[in-house]
Amino acid sequence: MMRRLLLSVLLAPVVVLPAACGGDAPSDEDTAASGAQAAQTEGQLSAVELEQGVGPIRDLELGPVDPALASQGETFFATKCSACHKLEERFVAPALGEVLSRRRPEFVMNMILNADEMVQRHPVIRELLAEFYTPMPVQVRDPDEARAILEYLRSEQTGSTTTPSGSGASR
Ligand code: HEC
Repeated sequence: MMRRLLLSVLLAPVVVLPAACGGDAPSDEDTAASGAQAAQTEGQLSAVELEQGVGPIRDLELGPVDPALASQGETFFATKCSACHKLEERFVAPALGEVLSRRRPEFVMNMILNADEMVQRHPVIRELLAEFYTPMPVQVRDPDEARAILEYLRSEQTGSTTTPSGSGASR
């Protein structure tokens, strides 16, 4: 009799403890793990990354379009981009004839140089991926080449050319 009482006193806490605090531990771990995974794939982009894209290019200062550089870029574009992109209409990928009216030049260059990370992490590009189903591959690793392609796109933008005012022209 005495022995039985002792046993139940000793056992009681052992039985109660796991029930009280056992449930939460695994789910905490789950949350932490999936959180880390999300941070790796989508991540929290900074305001600068959202605007200028994820990649090596930041804060370009662009002068007037350089026709020689643009014509180099045209050749690169023909060999490396035109299989998927046209200027005037959507194809395998979005039309680029007005891309600089919706994206910053840094964004365009970062997309060219770092498409795989942009596809993974940039919300705007992820949305396009959902629409076009093709992840854009990196075709260009040389920033000078990417810069030339940007110049070509600048030279071809519809509506981005500065219109001469024309006032006071005749005299
Ligand atoms: C294999 C097809 C393919 C090739 C080649 C390709 N792209 Fe893309 N590009 C895409 C697709 C598809 C998208 C839309 C995002 C996605 O699905 O990855 C895209 C998106 C873009 C965007 C973003 C457009 C926007 O509206 O924001 C730019 C800029 C771009 N590409 C430029 C280029 C340039 C410049 C080249 C050549 C160096 C190139 N792409 C080569 C398929 C391609």
